[in-house]
Amino acid sequence: MARAASRPSSTPKPTSAQRDNQRDKKPKAPRALKPADYLQKILNAKVYDVAIESELGLARNLTARLGNEVWLKREDNQPVFSFKLRGAYNKMAHLTPAQLKRGVICASAGNHAAGVALSASRLGCRAVITMPVTTPQVKIDGVRALGGEVVLHGDSYSDAYLHAVELQKKHGLTFVHPFDDPEVIAGQGTIAMEILRQHQGPIDAIFVAIGGGGLISGVANYVKAVRPEIKIIGVQMNDSDAMVRSVRHNKRVQLPDVGLFSDGTAVKLVGEETFRIARELVDDYVVVDTDAVCAAIKDVFQDTRSIVEPAGAMSIAAIKQYVERHRCKGKTFVAITCGANMNFDRLRFVAERAEVGEEREAVFAVTIPEERGSFRRFCELVEQRSVTEFNYRISDSQQAHVFVGLTTANRGESAKLAAMFKKQGFPTLDLTHDELAKQHVRHMVGGRSELAKDERLYRFIFPERPGALMKFLSSMHPDWNISLFHYRNQGADYGRILVGIQVPKGDKKAFQQFLDTLAYPYVEETDNPVYRLFLR
Ligand SMILES: Cc1ncc(COP(=O)(O)O)c(C=O)c1O
Repeated sequence: MARAASRPSSTPKPTSAQRDNQRDKKPKAPRALKPADYLQKILNAKVYDVAIESELGLARNLTARLGNEVWLKREDNQPVFSFKLRGAYNKMAHLTPAQLKRGVICASAGNHAAGVALSASRLGCRAVITMPVTTPQVKIDGVRALGGEVVLHGDSYSDAYLHAVELQKKHGLTFVHPFDDPEVIAGQGTIAMEILRQHQGPIDAIFVAIGGGGLISGVANYVKAVRPEIKIIGVQMNDSDAMVRSVRHNKRVQLPDVGLFSDGTAVKLVGEETFRIARELVDDYVVVDTDAVCAAIKDVFQDTRSIVEPAGAMSIAAIKQYVERHRCKGKTFVAITCGANMNFDRLRFVAERAEVGEEREAVFAVTIPEERGSFRRFCELVEQRSVTEFNYRISDSQQAHVFVGLTTANRGESAKLAAMFKKQGFPTLDLTHDELAKQHVRHMVGGRSELAKDERLYRFIFPERPGALMKFLSSMHPDWNISLFHYRNQGADYGRILVGIQVPKGDKKAFQQFLDTLAYPYVEETDNPVYRLFLR
């Protein structure tokens, strides 16, 4: 109490002179850069020592399909196969000779790392790049081949980033941020400068993938300074949508996790400057999913014969969604195909999901009564369509559950097909939008069965062409019960089918005669230990 009493009851208010004095001493926050400031920075950006002026080409197939002009800004054709070298080089080309002498540092396992390494080799400076220890060797080798010094640290990008900050301080290096830096943003903005020069007719909107927001910030600043009527549409993945959430909540929102399919845009927290710019200048956002991006990779391939990475196809997936949602006709859209760094192995997944993403493939679980003729009756129903998948394992004496994939022409067709199967007496589940079914269950149909008595296992091979599977099925006379069936269209020249057939011991000879009448090469696998381990 005594101590409290000895204190003044309240702090005396500063006089107005003191207030003025304080205000003068307070460090001034830097003035926010306006589109006109960025315009100047972009016009003065140095990127062409390393970057090319990429082509802006009409995507003819997409244009015809969508009824709107779709132009592709081909940043996937840059050296190092992404736009990232523009921002990195511009930042580094503006450093002082002393800073260049000490060198630069960044944390990245992706396109930014390649951009920094290439820029450093052009400028003759040292580039240290920290990456998580989990980085695939191919990426480490890629950056080393460009002359970058790779330091592996930690299990995640955040660990690698913190280590980069430590090294930067310790060695006096300059940090090259992947997106939250005005010079990096200005470098990326040169893409918009080229687009507006290359296409002088009307443009309704430019679609831009967003990770941390550097690319869209550069593009939006240039476009809003020069042709503000052009809409800037930001595109994010549904599992890494930090910018969309941040704009919605009016503050930067940090995501606990991000999906990694589109690794180029997998960012948990957008930049401060990029958030400010996006909030002011981006007109709208479209959120896309993995299947739609896979379908878009295929669209780009069909138009250009090039394969872009997931981030590079997001803008195309978004245009398709936007056209459908707003029923656009006769508009002109630009998509920035911003990168092409994808592992070849990923193509298997992309090709598989592209069909579902476009709804060119529908998948179902169909229940067929386990009785003579019902299987054939079901086959007749699907006869007109290409079968992409057919999996069945006997498991019940009353009914069979078949996993079927069919080619479809339009969105929404899977629901109509499911209704038709049900009407014809086959209870059906439409699995076209079911992740569990598409990712896992399709590969797991089967297993051991108590009911597979006297089963023999064969692999058959037949030339893959429309209708060939149905022809094969109808040539399998139902004298013996089929207890297992596995077929998946692999896009190969020959179709491969695994069939289990129940052949009582006394029927062996007749069965051999049946096999001989079939015009298909086959291999018996009944004694294969794999069959014994997993299916018997
Ligand atoms: C191919 C690709 N597209 C898009 C992006 C997202 O760019 P930003 O982080 O500037 O939004 C990146 C970022 O690395 C990328 O590599």
